[in-house]
Amino acid sequence: MISTLEAALPAVDLKPRIGSELKADAKTLLDAAHTQEIRDLLVRRGVLIARGVGFDDDQQRAFTRSLGDLRLGSVKKEGDEGLMKVTFDKKENPEYAEFFPGTFFWHMDGTYDAVPPFATVLTPRVLSLTGGQTEFANNYAAYDDLPPGEQAYLETLQVVHTMQASIYPAIPDCTAEQFALWCSYPNRTHPLVWRHRSGRKSLVLSTSCSHIVGMHPAESRALLDRLMTHATQPQYVYRHEWKMGDLLIWDNTGTMHRVRPYDVSCGRRLHRFTLNGEESVAAV
Ligand SMILES: [Fe+2]
Repeated sequence: MISTLEAALPAVDLKPRIGSELKADAKTLLDAAHTQEIRDLLVRRGVLIARGVGFDDDQQRAFTRSLGDLRLGSVKKEGDEGLMKVTFDKKENPEYAEFFPGTFFWHMDGTYDAVPPFATVLTPRVLSLTGGQTEFANNYAAYDDLPPGEQAYLETLQVVHTMQASIYPAIPDCTAEQFALWCSYPNRTHPLVWRHRSGRKSLVLSTSCSHIVGMHPAESRALLDRLMTHATQPQYVYRHEWKMGDLLIWDNTGTMHRVRPYDVSCGRRLHRFTLNGEESVAAV
């Protein structure tokens, strides 16, 4: 008799509140039998990694597609469908390299979109000799640990996300032209607390948070800064030390991420494929 039950993928927790390592090779990860299991674990743990996978671009694209709706974006060269090269090298990524300084600060991707991306899959192609770790913070856990009275208050608030809030901290000596360009991008207002379709709630926190609607600017900044300090405490954070061959997936809807400093002239380059979002940021 042929069993239809697949053995669960072996996985170990990286930190109690965030991150799991899948003990699986490339062939196993590409097996459609594990797709739902990987998605479920991703949303539960925020970040999944696997070591020694060594995906090429086609395998990474196929794996990403197996988990959802591949985001194509505006850069579509033949053979590059959906691929974004995360690097400061303008030859490799002329369209986005100038925006990457913002990645040194805690953020969610696509907070300017009505429906932020669901998840992103990263693999390293060139690594820095020092620094360049990527960190992830669990916005579900940070919300869960707040006192019930504060949770109820935060659920009433709306936050405006802007490009200038996102990038100015990384380039405080910007020119007036640069600042005007950032200001020309559309803003987006989201609830501060996201009630997901699953019923779970998370903070929608990011350096792109400009201000809280209807609140005095000083009070708004103080609250956003205090929440950011709370949400990035060590118990909510996983720091990934990259090795060639790694595969990393993060749930963008329930985590923030940032890269740690490194020599940006070293050619560090990660290949990334992203999944379109599946639900808008719903208030409680
Ligand atoms: Fe990002």
